[in-house]
Amino acid sequence: MMDDLNDIEKTALDALASVHDDHTLEEWRVTHLGRNSALMQVFSGLGALSKEERPIMGQAANRVKTSLEAALAARSEAVRKSAMERSLGLDKLDVTLPGRAIHHGHLHPSTQQLRRVLAILAEMGFQVYTSREVETDEMNFQLLNFPPHHPAREMQDSFYVDAPGRGDNPILLRTHTSPGQIHAMREFAAMNPKDPPPIRIALPGMCFRYEQITARSEIQFNQVEGLAVGEGITFADLKGMLTNFARRMFGAHARVRFRASYFPFTEPSAEMDVECFVCGGKGCQVCKGSGWLEILGCGMVHPVVLQNGGYDPKRYTGFAFGMGPERQLMLRYRINDIRYFWGNDIRFLDQF
Ligand code: PHE
Repeated sequence: MMDDLNDIEKTALDALASVHDDHTLEEWRVTHLGRNSALMQVFSGLGALSKEERPIMGQAANRVKTSLEAALAARSEAVRKSAMERSLGLDKLDVTLPGRAIHHGHLHPSTQQLRRVLAILAEMGFQVYTSREVETDEMNFQLLNFPPHHPAREMQDSFYVDAPGRGDNPILLRTHTSPGQIHAMREFAAMNPKDPPPIRIALPGMCFRYEQITARSEIQFNQVEGLAVGEGITFADLKGMLTNFARRMFGAHARVRFRASYFPFTEPSAEMDVECFVCGGKGCQVCKGSGWLEILGCGMVHPVVLQNGGYDPKRYTGFAFGMGPERQLMLRYRINDIRYFWGNDIRFLDQF
């Protein structure tokens, strides 16, 4: 019987050597370890043996079983490995196939326009200066010559921050970039209070107004402020500089006009229009038949504002202007709803 067991083991192991795939592996398992296999019959025959023989044969049969099971596991692993190697060899990687395109994002159209404006101003010697978005009433209004209750505040309905006990100087979100004029002048003046240096800066950034949101008005928008302060600066400098800016921004033949206007912090004040680039000045829907598009507000810095900034108005003069990049984009691309800018709709943003 011991010889039988050795035969069983040898036959099984010999057969396993020629197994090369999962299917024959399973067949081998059924034949050599299955319920009807010769080995299992040895186990069922143990009961018929004598007391002395039974444990010896039992042990021997178990050893063969363990040995066959280990051989099966090893073979199964070998089969898996060689199948993997075969498939790697067959499915060659084609490195010449084009890759999958990565979707690149890009700058928001407002940022793009902001940068166009700043690039032109930079060429004209305006340094970029950033100022805070949360302001005091004093900076946003009072030092710019809008005292409390001044009617010009009506043009700039404000978001006030709930900070009690501040009396006439509450905190608010800036309604325009003009408070940056005061911050900048004070910073420059502090460098040399007796003889403050000339200033030529651009102040970009977000502004906030308490508006009903419609196709034409938003509660947030960008502005770019310009400020030039020095000795002997005149209204002619303002007109020349802004006319030149318009030509660089809207084309070499862009015509401009200045209309008298009012801002508390400039005197005299004006608004600048460019000839409608949609109809060439003939009159169309975009310019509402007038032939002109309003582009910015400007003026000579008010003496009170110069004084508040630490610049002696008897010695210094200056000009300032403020424009809206979203408004410029709306005119340029005939965008008829300002809400697109902050609506986060990729179908809109993707077009720029
Ligand atoms: N701050 C003004 C506005 O928001 C624009 C402006 C800036 C006008 C500078 C004159 C000078 O309407």
